[in-house]
Amino acid sequence: MELNLQGKTAIVTGGSAGIGLAVAKALYGEGVNVVLVARDGARLENARRTVERERRLGHPEVVTVPGDIRQAETVERTVRTTLERFGRIDILVNNAGAAVAGSFLDLPEEAFLDAWNLKLLGYIRFVRAVVPHMRERRDGRIVNIIGGAARTPEPTFLPGSTANAALLNFTKGISKELAKSNIRINAISPGSTATERAERLAEQRARAKGITVEQQKAETAAAIPLGRMVDPSEIASLVLLLVSDRVRSLTGAEIVIDGGQQPGI
Ligand SMILES: NC(=O)c1ccc[n+]([C@@H]2O[C@H](COP(=O)([O-])OP(=O)(O)OC[C@H]3O[C@@H](n4cnc5c(N)ncnc54)[C@H](OP(=O)(O)O)[C@@H]3O)[C@@H](O)[C@H]2O)c1
Repeated sequence: MELNLQGKTAIVTGGSAGIGLAVAKALYGEGVNVVLVARDGARLENARRTVERERRLGHPEVVTVPGDIRQAETVERTVRTTLERFGRIDILVNNAGAAVAGSFLDLPEEAFLDAWNLKLLGYIRFVRAVVPHMRERRDGRIVNIIGGAARTPEPTFLPGSTANAALLNFTKGISKELAKSNIRINAISPGSTATERAERLAEQRARAKGITVEQQKAETAAAIPLGRMVDPSEIASLVLLLVSDRVRSLTGAEIVIDGGQQPGI
């Protein structure tokens, strides 16, 4: 399928690992300049090299911006760096999230504040920062990586699921305003996806429930009708479609990729 993304520029938050790294590789392979932002500078550099191995179309570039998205300064610096380097921002993929799992009464208030600050406010900060530029050009594509827990909360993951639920609301609400400027914003909600984070969550959930990590992983796998975790590359493929012009009328939508796990409609 021809996606016509060559020459565009994308910011991918949390682009140094997991889903973000898979998205960055896929975009770069289509000839898109990618700007990766995450905290760990060494891991970002590794990610840059990994992404550069995906060269297929044109001569895109990878730029890394080390920083913590819980700080508004990181968001401003990322947008400024992108505009200085490439003069345009066509695509934003909001992905960085790191909410901890744990038993409700054991989790300190900071677990909630941290999750909301990084994921909910981090996504909102990035949208606020890129929209003036996208509006000027009357073109923009934003994808928020949210998560199945937004609609299907569990008692051991409330910091993350509450942030996710609010982000669904935000995505739908702001889509109507952005549509006036030809900016599309959609959400992808992954189910359990095979990343480092899924490993950490399995350990934290096992601890909260008093079971072994193996038991927790078996529980997770058994709850997925297709019987396997999502591969990050599957999320990346859907991102490519959403940021292309192949489905231009899609905005304010949430697409769930979870092996059929979501229990309701
Ligand atoms: N994996 C799943 O099963 C799953 C399911 C549903 C939804 N999701 C969502 O998908 C997104 C990506 O998850 P993942 O599994 O790919 O996670 P991951 O493997 O842990 O990667 C997270 C990325 O975010 C960056 N990051 C974390 N905290 C940050 C901060 N404060 N500032 C800047 N960057 C930060 C990390 O780099 P540094 O640590 O170096 O900063 C890393 O690049 C998250 O929003 C998550 O909630 C994941």
